[in-house]
Formats: sequence, C-alpha cells, structure tokens
Amino acid sequence: VLRRSFSTTSSRNVIKNVTVIGGGLMGSGIAQVAAQSGNNVTLVEVNADILKKAEASIATNLGRVAKKLYKEDPNAAKKFVEEASSRIKGSTDPSEAVKDSDLVIEAIVENIGIKHKLFKSLDEAAPPKTLFASNTSSLSIGEIASVVKRKDKFGGLHFFNPVPVMKLLEIVRIPEQSEETYQAFVAWGKSIGKTCVTCKDTPGFIVNRLLVPYIAEAVRMLERGDASPRDIDTAMKLGAGYPMGPIELADYVGHDTTLSILQGWHDKYPDNPLFVPCDSQRQLVQEKKLGVKTGEGYYKYN
Ligand code: CAA
Ligand code: NAD
Repeated sequence: VLRRSFSTTSSRNVIKNVTVIGGGLMGSGIAQVAAQSGNNVTLVEVNADILKKAEASIATNLGRVAKKLYKEDPNAAKKFVEEASSRIKGSTDPSEAVKDSDLVIEAIVENIGIKHKLFKSLDEAAPPKTLFASNTSSLSIGEIASVVKRKDKFGGLHFFNPVPVMKLLEIVRIPEQSEETYQAFVAWGKSIGKTCVTCKDTPGFIVNRLLVPYIAEAVRMLERGDASPRDIDTAMKLGAGYPMGPIELADYVGHDTTLSILQGWHDKYPDNPLFVPCDSQRQLVQEKKLGVKTGEGYYKYN
C-alpha cells in the first residue's frame, strides 16, 4: 500500500529563482537544466576563475542539447543557448546569492563539515520562504540539515551525471520536511523535465544504494581475475542492457567518488560486506588515476 507521503503530486511549480552552490561537474549541470527550463539561476563558486570554467562547460553542454533539440534550425539552437545562458548569473558571495531565492541547491564537495558551515550561514542569510536542498551522493540529509532551523524546508534533490541527459531526480524526505516542501520539490523537478522518485534518507537513497555495491562487486570480480574488465563490461551491456558496463561506469563516476562513498558507509556500517572498499580502487586513487577525468582509471582515455 502506498503511503500518502510517497504519492505523486499535481501541484503547480512555484519555484522561479534558484541558487546553485558549487559549479563543478554536478552544479553546472543543475544550473544548466534549471536555466533551460526558464528559472533565473545564480551559480555560486569559490572564485571567479572556477566560475568561468563552469560557465564554459555550461555553454558547451547547452550547445549539445540545442543541437539535439533543433537539428534543422541553427538559428533556434543559437537562441536557445543565448536565452538559457542569459538566465544564469555567477556569484562568489553565497549570502548575497540567496537573498531572493526560492530554492537553494547545494552541490559542493562531499564533506559534512564544509556542508554544515555553508548551510549554517545560508540559514541566516536566506529569507524564511527559501527551500534548501542538498545533492549529496552518500551523506545523510538529516545530518546535513541538523545545523539549520528550517528543517521543514529541507530535503535531498539528488541528480545524476550527466545531469542534462539523465532523466531521474531522487527526492529525499526527512521526517521534519513539510508536505508543502515535498510537493514544491516534486512540482519543480517535473517542471525541469525530470522524472521524480521519492525515498527515505537511507545510505545511497535508491540508485547509489544499488549501483555502488554493484560497481564494487564488479571490481572485486576483476581483482580475483575471474574475467577481464572488457569482458565484464561487455557482459553487463549485452547481457543486462546497461548503457555502460560497471568498470567503465566506475571510471566515469570517478574512483575518488566511489571510494569515498564506500569508505563513509563502511565506517558507519562496518558489518555490511557490500560496503567494503576495494583495494585496486584505493591503489588507483593513490596514483591519482581517478578515471575519465584524469585520463586513466581501469582504462586509458586520451
Ligand atoms: N550534456 C549534454 N549532453 C550530453 C552530455 C552532457 N554532459 N553528455 C552526453 N550528452 C549527450 C550527447 O551529446 C549525445 O547526444 P546525441 O544522442 O544527440 O548524440 C548523448 O548524450 C549520448 O552521448 P554519447 O553519444 O557521447 O555517448 P553514449 O550514448 O554512450 O551516452 C551516457 C553517454 C549518457 C553517459 C550513457 O553512456 C549512460 O547513460 N551511461 C550511464 C551513466 C550513469 O549511470 N550515470 C549515473 C552515475 S551515478 C550518479 O551520477 C550518482 C552519484 O551520486 C555518483
Ligand atoms: P566537483 O568537485 O566537480 O564540484 C564541487 C565544486 O564545489 C567545486 O567546483 C568547488 O570549487 C565548489 N565548492 C566547494 N566548496 C564550496 C563552497 N563553500 N561554496 C561554493 N562552491 C564550493 O564535485 P561534484 O562531482 O559536482 O559533486 C558535488 C556534489 O554532488 C557532492 O556532494 C557529490 O557527492 C554530489 N554528486 C556527485 C555525483 C557525481 O557523479 N560526481 C553525482 C551525484 C551527486
């Protein structure tokens, strides 16, 4: 039986001004999809140089989306890119950036102390109406929210890489979250073209709770020498219909990311064998072979 809190909604979207904090891989994707869908977006980074890089990556990825949407009409494609770009403004001052915000989405480094510091100051700077969300992959939403007063306005909005392509948005509830906040998250998620699923605040939510142990099992399989990386990937693509095999996906997500997710869960739940970090991934991280982003992981990229 579906409980009421897990049902879908037909509420109208009331969110228009969105602040995205962190303009890395995920934050720039989130800013892009929000702007593409008509939101006014403020993207916050630690300095102007990183903001510039984020803006360049958004311009490239908007171009890819525009090319797909307007194959036959380069003028419409150009207009789409220009309009979406004009809705994104950069900032290096988080307190100023949330002054008129309906929704703040945090996509900074995966570190509870740094996230706490940020949310504590945002809670003081933002007006009472502003909803807060974290895009964390593996930390507890309740723990992140513990430093703010507005726990009723807090939740997880978990996007997937690459954000402009992946259709899913996980909406993570905490017990203090109000029904109004939840409905606003769902309506906004739909308005930016994502399919929303709802889940409780448990390690990895839905996707990562299944995906990360699956990747770790594949890595353990290659560590045992049961099959080659290529054959493991081919097997899961052609035998299970996945777009990428698990070893390719581990390189794509980044070994630093997967390792730190596993390490965090292992520290918290030492008895769960699914959460044990993998030796070869630890080795790759030590050698700074983080995957696609550094040019080498289990495979080499050029
Ligand atoms: N922005 C815009 N468009 C993009 C893009 C981006 N960043 N990346 C890819 N695309 C577009 C391409 O332009 C291409 O468009 P066309 O179809 O019009 O040509 C399309 O997406 C497909 O891309 P490619 O042809 O380059 O490659 P592909 O067909 O192999 O698809 C992929 C790439 C979408 C990444 C696909 O391989 C895939 O879905 N892989 C699995 C990704 C996945 O599992 N992501 C989740 C990771 S876990 C996570 O994110 C959660 C976490 O907390 C760690
Ligand atoms: P990233 O390293 O690419 O980007 C993080 C950005 O945040 C950096 O550009 C950094 O300069 C900026 N930053 C750090 N502290 C800041 C602060 N106080 N104020 C403003 N900006 C700050 O990381 P990412 O992969 O985009 O991950 C960001 C978040 O999203 C993490 O919580 C991660 O767990 C989560 N996530 C990652 C993925 C993934 O596949 N990489 C998928 C889903 C969720």
